[in-house]
Amino acid sequence: MPDRRVLIIDDEPGLAGLLEASLENEGYEVRLAHTGSAGLSQAESGFDGVVLLDLRLPDVEGLDVLQALLQANPSNRIVIMTAHGSIDAAIEATRRGAYDFLTKTDDLAGRVRVSVKNAFRDREMSGRVSELEEEASAREGFRTLVARSPEMTRVFQTLRHAVDSRVTVLIQGESGTGKELVARALHSGGARGAGPFVALNCAGIPDTLLESELFGHERGAFTGAVTAKKGKFELADGGTIFLDEIGEMSLHLQSKILRVLETREVDRLGGSKPVKVDVRIVSATHRDLEQMVAHGEFREDLYYRLAVFPIRLPALRERQGDVPLLVDHFLRGFAKEEGKDITGVEPEVMDCLESHTYPGNVRELENIISRAVVVSSGPRISISDLPRQVLDATRMRRLGVDDDGTGELTPDLSLDRAFELLFRRTDELPSHEQLEAALIRRALRLVEGDVTRAAELLGLSRPTLYRRLERLGGKDAVLAVAEAHG
Ligand SMILES: Nc1ncnc2c1ncn2[C@@H]1O[C@H](COP(=O)(O)OP(=O)(O)OP(=O)(O)O)[C@@H](O)[C@H]1O
Ligand SMILES: [Mg+2]
Repeated sequence: MPDRRVLIIDDEPGLAGLLEASLENEGYEVRLAHTGSAGLSQAESGFDGVVLLDLRLPDVEGLDVLQALLQANPSNRIVIMTAHGSIDAAIEATRRGAYDFLTKTDDLAGRVRVSVKNAFRDREMSGRVSELEEEASAREGFRTLVARSPEMTRVFQTLRHAVDSRVTVLIQGESGTGKELVARALHSGGARGAGPFVALNCAGIPDTLLESELFGHERGAFTGAVTAKKGKFELADGGTIFLDEIGEMSLHLQSKILRVLETREVDRLGGSKPVKVDVRIVSATHRDLEQMVAHGEFREDLYYRLAVFPIRLPALRERQGDVPLLVDHFLRGFAKEEGKDITGVEPEVMDCLESHTYPGNVRELENIISRAVVVSSGPRISISDLPRQVLDATRMRRLGVDDDGTGELTPDLSLDRAFELLFRRTDELPSHEQLEAALIRRALRLVEGDVTRAAELLGLSRPTLYRRLERLGGKDAVLAVAEAHG
């Protein structure tokens, strides 16, 4: 039985020995640690398996040992053993990631055997899942990047030159344009594809934490560093590190990244000697780095090193030609996921989707389709499956009005369209009389009160217009209202 290691961390030698014998009988390879620090050094040397952990240890907090074991190797499964009466601590431990807990009462050995067996099964299952996921994403590679517009074709051509080299690549583009997808494709499609792809989002992480994430730390480098930990640079050795949202990185860390680029070495926090790394850096941002450089918010020297190979992903509205392809791509994906037999979209849906401007880019389109597939009841996506704001925005644009509603009504706009724009709901419609009054006011104002010309404009006889004016309180009253409104 390969990979069936059990580590027992317990300061009661009698009990530990008993469990050891019982588990060895089952074919497990058992190690013993009688103190917390012995347990910690097991974690540090990369113990991989199932751990039986007594929470009450003489030297180190049991919960710290738990944390170290999980941090060092997330596929470890920890079974807590606790004396009768300290259930609260055990529950806290499961909240922090322990797999199971057992109280030290009758037949502990028997219950341990069952729990250890389950823990190994759980490990295998989740290992299989992530393997499958990785396999699937590797297989997809460039294929999942769907595009055929000339704008994106150019991007692909550029990418091809960068794929097999180690040059740093900087991917810029609005949110949702596919920066991460491109970074992954760049990695898996190239010579480093077999190596690791390690992604780190630089936004929203406190500086000190980001630093230890990037460069790792030695045990005891700071409070809470109960065990040594490799940084992302070391983890990405032989592969690619993807620094997402690089524009959010502090100047302090920028200078550290620059050093890595120059020396190809990283210094762990609290470490004494630098570690060599062979890593390709791909970074991404939605911000304008050049402008940040100009404002002194981003180091110029770092910028030039990161952007040896710059790629700008166009916004989706700049490559509307990709929309039908993407719609089809997402439709297939989500229909399969939902187990629905959806064959396409109604023509008017495609019209609408093609004229939308997608402030959220491809991600927005993806969300629209995902939602439409869920709510759709027919074999095709219909207009009512689209979210309200997409329909509204499309309608306004057709009327010649900008997204923010500031556009002008153009003179060639038909009245029907103007009405559509002005009165969206039935309860907003003006009455016939209100409409006529407004029309007369408008005409009178345009011809500066000249009733004869106003009658001509409106296609009425002079007496008719006079009669209407009378009903409205006389010409002067009407004009006064018109002026006040104008
Ligand atoms: N060309 C494409 N073909 C297929 N799917 C795409 C394409 N571009 C983007 N996507 C999908 O759109 C979503 C957003 O892409 P991604 O996360 O790569 O964008 P991003 O530029 O990194 O966005 P952000 O700046 O918000 O992090 C993802 O689900 C991705 O799979
Ligand atoms: Mg991203």
